[in-house]
Amino acid sequence: MRTETPVTLYLKDYTPPAWRVNSVDLHVAIHDGHAEVRARLACTRNPAVADAPLVLDGEALQLLSVTLDGAALDATRYVVADDRLTIAGPLPDACVLETVVRIDPDRNTHLSGLYRSRDGYFTQCEAEGFRRITFFPDRPDVMARFSCTIEADRARFPHLLSNGNPVAAGVCADDATRHWARWDDPYAKPCYLFALVAAKLDVLEDEFLTASGHKVRLAVYVEPGKLDQCGHAMAALKKAMRWDEQRFGLEYDLDQYMIVAVGDFNMGAMENKGLNIFNTKYVLARPDTATDADYQGIDRVVAHEYFHNWTGNRVTCRDWFQLSLKEGLTVFRDQEFGADTHSRAVTRIQEVRALRVGQFPEDAGPMAHPIRPASYAEINNFYTATVYNKGAEVIRMIHTLLGRDGFRRGMDLYFQRHDGQAVTCEDFVAAMQDASGVDLTQFRRWYARAGTPRLTASGTYDAATKRYTLTLTQTLAPTAYEKRLAESGQPVVEGTLHIPVALGLVLPNGHDAPLKLAGEAEAAGTTRVLSLTEPTQTFVFEDVPDAPVASLLRDFSAPVQLEFEQTDAELAHLMAHDSDAFNRWEAGQRLATRVLLAGVNAQQRAALPRPPLPQAGEGRGEGNALGSDWIPDAFVAACGRVLDDGLNGDPALAAEALNLPAEAVLAEAVVAQGGTIDPEAIHAARVSLRRHLAARLRDKFETVWNALAPSEAYAPDGSQVGQRALRNACLGYLAESEADYLKASVVPRLTAQLAPGGNMTDEIAALATLANLDLPERETALADFYAPWRNEALVIDKWFSVQATSRLPGTAAHVRALMQHPAFDLKNPNRVYALIRGFCGANPRHFHAADGSGYALAADVISELQAINPQVASRIARSFDRWRQFDAGRQAHARAALERIAAIEGLAKDVAEVVGNALKA
Ligand code: TRP
Ligand code: ZN
Repeated sequence: MRTETPVTLYLKDYTPPAWRVNSVDLHVAIHDGHAEVRARLACTRNPAVADAPLVLDGEALQLLSVTLDGAALDATRYVVADDRLTIAGPLPDACVLETVVRIDPDRNTHLSGLYRSRDGYFTQCEAEGFRRITFFPDRPDVMARFSCTIEADRARFPHLLSNGNPVAAGVCADDATRHWARWDDPYAKPCYLFALVAAKLDVLEDEFLTASGHKVRLAVYVEPGKLDQCGHAMAALKKAMRWDEQRFGLEYDLDQYMIVAVGDFNMGAMENKGLNIFNTKYVLARPDTATDADYQGIDRVVAHEYFHNWTGNRVTCRDWFQLSLKEGLTVFRDQEFGADTHSRAVTRIQEVRALRVGQFPEDAGPMAHPIRPASYAEINNFYTATVYNKGAEVIRMIHTLLGRDGFRRGMDLYFQRHDGQAVTCEDFVAAMQDASGVDLTQFRRWYARAGTPRLTASGTYDAATKRYTLTLTQTLAPTAYEKRLAESGQPVVEGTLHIPVALGLVLPNGHDAPLKLAGEAEAAGTTRVLSLTEPTQTFVFEDVPDAPVASLLRDFSAPVQLEFEQTDAELAHLMAHDSDAFNRWEAGQRLATRVLLAGVNAQQRAALPRPPLPQAGEGRGEGNALGSDWIPDAFVAACGRVLDDGLNGDPALAAEALNLPAEAVLAEAVVAQGGTIDPEAIHAARVSLRRHLAARLRDKFETVWNALAPSEAYAPDGSQVGQRALRNACLGYLAESEADYLKASVVPRLTAQLAPGGNMTDEIAALATLANLDLPERETALADFYAPWRNEALVIDKWFSVQATSRLPGTAAHVRALMQHPAFDLKNPNRVYALIRGFCGANPRHFHAADGSGYALAADVISELQAINPQVASRIARSFDRWRQFDAGRQAHARAALERIAAIEGLAKDVAEVVGNALKA
């Protein structure tokens, strides 16, 4: 076998399907060692496409028989080749095609199609998994009515589930040990939304009464014995259903809504019509097993999949280039749900943090693409931060430009026009524009342009005329995406973007100035959204009583990199007074970034020695602290004020403010300044700043930690979550203290937090902190944690993660050792994500080790994993994205690792595309 160069598909080549499938009747018989699938498709020719053969996709299928309109098809009439079944003419305009295939779910390690996982069989069909179940035109614009009969062993697989409504069930006439169930879905859907489950499960049931009085049965199915971990997911589902009625007027449309949790799953969850399949990570939670972040993740993913019922299922995508049509919009909807049910400001901060850690680097790297890419080789590689998170930012900008009511009218029109259809991003934007009257012509470029725009700002205040003049400039440099387009002779989209810039002017007294643009009769509001549509534009504000500090991009109104020179004092003023909570946080992050980059530069200029290796028992594992003359007292004072505010005001916001920019974000800041990433220097600067704050603010950290001692039973509610976040942030800083204090006063608290009977939020905070400390308590804690949780997979994932992300030297070798641990399993995506992605994606200092040990580890894993699970292997391969931004030595190691992967015989297409782009860039 040779590696084929992946075939690239182009958006411009779209043609409507030559054949439609009106209905599908499936019969799936599950046996030990194989399954047999009979599919009866009622097909009709698309009159617009004359004489085309009937072509069906099929992958890893063994064809047993084909009949056309009831008669066995002569072998000369069809060809099975290149993952397709082609039936040659002449064919009637309508026909019934029946195929029988044999598949092997027990050995399906791709987790795409029908596969076995512990107690049962599950499916995953998005994007192109249905073709691994039966022959079918596997494209989202072929929408059919599905019915499905499942047959399996009665004792081992008591639950037989599929989409829609249960219509009949019984014991098999010829074998009383087997049973069957038949399901019928009244809504036509693309095959990527098909699902079936045959398993032994426990079920939590509930009911929901829709706004119009329809009663819906809700069910959450989990592995036997886990019923006590389903309550939160069920509550989240009911909240989401109510919210979608209230905010968007959208009701559920079937008699049943089922969620099934499975421990082997490539992604978070899947929105199959009426039968969602979820990664256990987004269903199971109990205070002693799940953290506050896990609880919030469940809320958001349950809501996300539920919201897809309208944005994705009722209105679906014409083709996979339009993926952001459903994903960007649905992420925006789950973000708004999060903001309406938790703190809006904290939610927004976390989203922007995720965008900066995950999407900005993607947009600057070899896999850069717009939210609607013009080409792809493997669609599974485009379930990205760009399509999902930047996609949501683009929807948010439309929301900002249209206002809440205008956006709602746009949504209403979108459903009115397109319910039951497979449509494009263009159709969505057209509905928004037509319903609101806002011209979105220029705005559409956001769908076609890759890269993070730079927004440069400068402002001047004229005391004599009381005018503030703001000049905004946008630039967008070509990315790797434009290079790929040009190479394949594709047109490159150029031109300025329509960027909504929300701003306020904060006066010296801390209040917002009323905003009156030159030419306006009177001031209107204190936050205004400016439309930047030209390369450079100047905005003049009148009657500004005093020299203001501009607060730009309030609530992060556009996904851009802002360059705006503001003094430390101005940033401190915003931190203290900005009426926009997001920008108060943002000012702190900008100040911290400035300080940290100074730290990085100072070390590089002075060629300061790298942190020496730890001395045994020294505790922190990194030797002496570096100098601190680059840390301004004003920054320390600002952090002190944050702590005071945290006690008196909002602890959740204070915790966010104390969370310094991540190493990956600092790395991008270095690149933006034209520098080479030095992961050691970045790490050292960040740790040094944390140590400095720990030393200077110890009393405040202690005060806050003591004041926030829990006084009530654990609940994952807003106020408790904020308090735990701030308290654990304080403890994390205190753990940066010098050895004596650390051992005498901090380690005992960490150990106490790990005592049985507590909650997982506090436990994992303590364990992750201890995992960075070179102390005997570390090993004890890790061993004591493992034993009682060894049968709770999601908790063991955390145990792997905290070790993979440890700062301590030797972490790469330790990760290799953990891969040999009996609990590690390359076939389980959650385990791989916990250990391998934890190391490659969340431990930059060790992954990018100068000796190449991190890259070699990744290459070894990817090489083995690509044959087992190409989707997961490909996600790990994305860790190499930024390899060109490092020094020559690291680049040589990275190139060797990438070339080693590229040379694999029969390399999976998913990995070939990622590695190929990385080497080309
Ligand atoms: N549509 C799913 C979501 O965003 C994503 C998804 C789940 C997926 N499983 C997948 C995508 C497997 C590709 C492959 O909610
Ligand atoms: Zn989704």
